Amino acid sequence: MIETSFAGLELRNPVIAASSGQTDSTDKIIALEKAGIGAVVLKSLFEEQLDAQSEQLLGSSDYPEARDFLQNTVRAHEIEKYLTLVKEARRAVAVPVIASINCYDSGEWVKFASELENAGASALELNIQKIDTSAEYTPGATEQLHVEILQQIKKVVHLPVIVKISRNLSNLVSVIDQLKSAGAAAVVLFNRPWQPDIDIHTLRMVAADPFTSATDLSDTLRWIGIVSGSVNLPIAASTGVHKPEDLIKAILVGASAVELCTTLYRNGNKIIGEMLNSLTRWLEKQNFASVTEARGQLNYRRIADPAGYERLQFIRQTREICKS
Ligand SMILES: Cc1cc2nc3c(=O)[nH]c(=O)nc-3n(C[C@H](O)[C@H](O)[C@H](O)COP(=O)(O)O)c2cc1C
Repeated sequence: MIETSFAGLELRNPVIAASSGQTDSTDKIIALEKAGIGAVVLKSLFEEQLDAQSEQLLGSSDYPEARDFLQNTVRAHEIEKYLTLVKEARRAVAVPVIASINCYDSGEWVKFASELENAGASALELNIQKIDTSAEYTPGATEQLHVEILQQIKKVVHLPVIVKISRNLSNLVSVIDQLKSAGAAAVVLFNRPWQPDIDIHTLRMVAADPFTSATDLSDTLRWIGIVSGSVNLPIAASTGVHKPEDLIKAILVGASAVELCTTLYRNGNKIIGEMLNSLTRWLEKQNFASVTEARGQLNYRRIADPAGYERLQFIRQTREICKS
């Protein structure tokens, strides 16, 4: 009843552990499987992470040979560690293990994708993020970059490729349609980027709270509802899915699965069982035979009043708030 398919993978249920520190070791992945998880996305390998570690080791050395040597050694070490995690996790659990790469261009790392495939990754999730700050930026270039990275990756792998998208990206429906044509197996809406904050005492930029709040769910639901009503591609909800009801809402607007992060940190793995029990009870109560039957019942195409998805201004509420 609660089985689902996502990105060409058959999942025992729609609850996936999102890429984070909760998925960076085989032991944690075994614990997630025992708690009932449907699939796991491994902690990402970051382009920046590799570069930053090389820079730290290099210190102030300016010798180009030393720089190249260290960069290659550190890179090889990180890659080896990651491939070992993929292999061990795949051996240890029956649920799909999805590898993850955080990237912002289609450079050197693209070759690494085929090594992930050889190591046995069930799928690959690309977390693509780029903020352009240039006044000469050509509108649409960042959207195009998403498609180009996917096209490069698809040249080297056969496994399903999932694209995790940031909320900062514009023209979501058309980009996701292009990603589908370029061979994406699914998309994740949304990634939560690193959040800046300002320390008014030290006058520096610092990291804001990395966790999401309940109000973040609304935008996730809006865009899944709109995209699932327009593009026939599996979607996983991420950002603000914290409670059992949130999983059900995500399915109703059209998600095939949800990816959990904040709620796993806050509530532990027991939230997985609570979500699954609540989903089963709700499906029975509503007389839905399966997740597939319930999926998208309230998406942009099927809801009685689709204007709700487009509404941005809240005139009436503003008047009421001003009166009180
Ligand atoms: C501590 C932490 C680490 C994360 N690491 C990654 C990562 O390595 N790769 C990635 O794609 N997303 C990463 N994320 C983002 C999450 O996978 C998720 O998309 C985001 O937190 C929104 O989901 P949530 O509302 O369930 O927290 C991280 C988030 C947190 C809070």
